[in-house]
Amino acid sequence: MLSPVIEQALNDQIAMECKASFVYLAMANWCEQEGLGGCAEFLYEHSDEERMHMLKLVKYLNGVDGKAIIPNVSLEQQSWSDIRSLLEEVYEHEKKVTKSIHELVAVSQEQKDFRTLNFLQWYVDEQLEEEILVKDILDQVKLIGNGPQSLYYINKELEKRANAPEEEEEEA
Ligand code: FEO
Repeated sequence: MLSPVIEQALNDQIAMECKASFVYLAMANWCEQEGLGGCAEFLYEHSDEERMHMLKLVKYLNGVDGKAIIPNVSLEQQSWSDIRSLLEEVYEHEKKVTKSIHELVAVSQEQKDFRTLNFLQWYVDEQLEEEILVKDILDQVKLIGNGPQSLYYINKELEKRANAPEEEEEEA
């Protein structure tokens, strides 16, 4: 039997993944308008991944006889001052998601909800990968700077990462 506490916590996580998906979509849109096609491709892909994270939670919650709620999303921002601040925002957002997943794990332990605990392990690993990826990109951007010439390389680098073959993702 699913506890209301877990149901609420999973719905909060659904809202967070959904928000991330739309924020990264807005970022991709801005990059495309700025002529940063490689950055846009990377962020469009990342937006799709967040949607997959959301769907996986929706299907799990409905599958264990809970009621998933699809949230309304409002975006506070549609443009960014530069690519470095945009990537810093992505990194901060990922750290927030990681914290939220860890809290969800703690709640599942408290509630002795072992199947949710087991389900969440995938998210714990996924968040670690995402944080490492974004930090690595951000470190490179800090190293080569944010000027117009560096932008060419940043764009190329993100294009490369967007096209990099990925390990098989689990079905949402
Ligand atoms: Fe699904 Fe990157 O948080």
